[in-house]
Amino acid sequence: MNIKTLAALSLSILCQQVQAQTGKISIDASKPGAEVSKNLYGVFFEEINHAGEGGIYGELIQNRAFEAHKDPESSFREGDFVHSHKGWKHFYTKKPDLIGWAIVKSGNANGTAELDKTTPLNENTPNALKLTVNSLASGRFAITNQGFWGIAVQKGEKYNLSFYARCDAKSKGALKLSLEHASGQVLAEGSVTGVQGQWKKFTYTFTATTTEPTTKLVIAPQSEGTIWLDVVSMFPAKTFKERPNGMRLDIAQKLDAMKPGFLRFPGGCIVEGINMDNRVKWKNTIGDIAKRPGHWILWDYHSSDGLGFHDYLQMCEDMGAAPMYVFPVGMSCQFRKCEYAEVNELQPYIDEVMDALEYALGPVSSKWGAERAKNGHPAPFKIKYVEVGNENYGPIYQEHYNIFFKAVKEKYPNLMTITCTDPAMRGPFKRTDLPGITQPIEIIDEHFYESTDFFYKNVSRYDTYDRNGPKVYVGEYAVKKWNNTLKGNLESALAEAAFMTGMERNAEVVTLSSYAPTFVNVNDRTWNPDMLVFNNHQSYGTPSYQVQKLFATNIPDRNIPVQVENRPVQYKAEEPGRPMLTLENPDCEVDYKDIKLEMGGKTFSGPQLFEPISAAKAGQDGWRIGKWGKTELGLTPEVLQAAKGAQGADYTLTMKLKADKIEDLGGPTIYFHARGSKTFQWNIGQWGRLHALLWNDNGYDSYFGQYFGMIEKGKWYDIKISIKGDKVTCYIDNQLIHDATIPKLIVPDVYASAGVKEGTKELIIKVVNATSQVQSLPLDIKGASTLSSKGEALVLTSENVLDENSFEYPEKVAPRKIDINGVSSNFTYSFLPYSVTVLKLKPAAKATR
Ligand code: AHR
Repeated sequence: MNIKTLAALSLSILCQQVQAQTGKISIDASKPGAEVSKNLYGVFFEEINHAGEGGIYGELIQNRAFEAHKDPESSFREGDFVHSHKGWKHFYTKKPDLIGWAIVKSGNANGTAELDKTTPLNENTPNALKLTVNSLASGRFAITNQGFWGIAVQKGEKYNLSFYARCDAKSKGALKLSLEHASGQVLAEGSVTGVQGQWKKFTYTFTATTTEPTTKLVIAPQSEGTIWLDVVSMFPAKTFKERPNGMRLDIAQKLDAMKPGFLRFPGGCIVEGINMDNRVKWKNTIGDIAKRPGHWILWDYHSSDGLGFHDYLQMCEDMGAAPMYVFPVGMSCQFRKCEYAEVNELQPYIDEVMDALEYALGPVSSKWGAERAKNGHPAPFKIKYVEVGNENYGPIYQEHYNIFFKAVKEKYPNLMTITCTDPAMRGPFKRTDLPGITQPIEIIDEHFYESTDFFYKNVSRYDTYDRNGPKVYVGEYAVKKWNNTLKGNLESALAEAAFMTGMERNAEVVTLSSYAPTFVNVNDRTWNPDMLVFNNHQSYGTPSYQVQKLFATNIPDRNIPVQVENRPVQYKAEEPGRPMLTLENPDCEVDYKDIKLEMGGKTFSGPQLFEPISAAKAGQDGWRIGKWGKTELGLTPEVLQAAKGAQGADYTLTMKLKADKIEDLGGPTIYFHARGSKTFQWNIGQWGRLHALLWNDNGYDSYFGQYFGMIEKGKWYDIKISIKGDKVTCYIDNQLIHDATIPKLIVPDVYASAGVKEGTKELIIKVVNATSQVQSLPLDIKGASTLSSKGEALVLTSENVLDENSFEYPEKVAPRKIDINGVSSNFTYSFLPYSVTVLKLKPAAKATR
């Protein structure tokens, strides 16, 4: 929405007869509360969606070291699948040897391009490109790199190319270098000579003559013979803060504009990897980029690790963000068949962490401090937080945590440590959730990829947290649809903003937070939504980014009590429920038999229960649903009619099931109930550890019951699900697993937080109006100095709640500044429908004589 539309909308709101609204916002400025952490809003960085590689990392060449074809570390391949030795099976097709590179030839020129290991540049880059020119006969034989979905160059800008080369005796050792459009148009060109028998580094700076996002780098030998190339790298001369090996300017600037309190790195699941060998080994990510081996990223691509440990620390320093280092704790990713070290094998992993901390924090006289100085940064970096693992849970984690915590705190008592909680946790954190942890818990990290409904329901989550317990880091959160279709819109940003008001109101508990993930290259949307979206030459922030930036750049020093009064929580009206049955198996094969439904005193089974088409899907012994299979079983009209009867839809569904070949993510899923547009499902033994009840609506899933447990392969279980009014009870072999209330969806409302800037006494009031109506609400402000009648409102909204930003309209949903008049300790403000408003109210200037 542009400023004119917003102003017009505001004016029309003032003039129109707005629907009467009840409620008021009461603020008590006489009672300044907790200090709001300056670091409350930070950034989560993980190499996912080409966040770094082909993203914020400025490198323009894809597969610069010719190592990107490799399969994951310590895995083996079977066709299109790779397996870890612990049994994680993953679809990852074999990559071409020269991924990112292609041959171009013209005229009668011919030759070959292949990987060669005979004389490596160094042991960390064992493969080189061997380019053999057999004939140049009036043509060209060359190799090109297309970058990451094209190399984008801008007219007049410089691009620094570097590479290593050697050649055989037949070659004359000369190369022509160019930046070319697919049409053959040359945008810049140059040459190098003097390639000889030994590896030598060459550099060349191009100046682009045209702006073109689909450029290729072309390297063309000028004679017959063989030339080897390795670590072919090209950066724009302009990077963030002009760092060599630096960050792409537009993306880094957008991150910087958020004024992030901290930057968490390097992830995410990649920290731990699919096995121990695939973890991020920080020592492989520092120093000369030609000596970084790179590694496989479990989000399905190779990272050069050009953006490494030192580079993250430098980026933090350049953005004034406190570094938050997440390290692995002798365990690989627990979603991916965790491999782990026994306690007596942990020492090397502890040493690895301690060395990293010494690299960042140690004096130059220390071994790793000296290495840091060698890499250009004699002064220590200011790591402030360390996270002990990522998304780890369970007894092994808790045991490892104690050991890593002790080692870190003994040497670095001032570092703030962060403890993982189970990513499936949805209820409030309790210290008893982590019984095996005997060492202190300073900060706990909670993760929520959830529905809008979850975030609205959790606005008050932290109101009841123990004020003397651990602080909270909401380390990963975003409104997410697990079908990956949501790319971030105003609707999701509103729910996140509402939740964030709850963080600010509870600043004594919540001290850190980071939306996740942060980045997505539109050519690799592995995980949606994300905060900053880019291709190779454009970038924009989603509405969630705009909310993060709005909150992060308007942090009060202290919160003050605020209440949105007289607005009782309301729930959406619902149609009565009805039985349904859909069977789905994410990662196993399952036999289901003896399916029965008891309702209104009758028992339905076989043809009385299932429509003929559905009944026909059954074999002689019931239903066998294959891996990734989903079978919807239509119920007979009689059953559906009975469900409308006097008994309502109270019913009991029973069946037997036996799961074979349970792999990776999970056991059987039974969709057992529908109400309006919502369906309800029971995941049995999800991730080998959890029975979970979820509702689904319009692509959202949300938990409403969890119980730790699993099922064994090859064993028959008796399953029972009962619905009585709003109650659902689930049993396995007659043992009660869940006794839950079927949730209703909340009606989003108005949410607020308030705070004060201590020096200026400016009041900062954040109000989320998540309703479709203008909310004209009195603000009753007690205990503040007389306020200036003029104030400022930063308003984020748009014409449609589903509006997104895009390359074409990058700021369609972004805050606009509006000057406001008539401010007093009791004034009414009209909050626009579907808006986030930050009111900035200053004390009146003192009268001077
Ligand atoms: O943010 C994407 C992933 O979500 C992270 O890697 C992981 O920590 C979480 O499961």
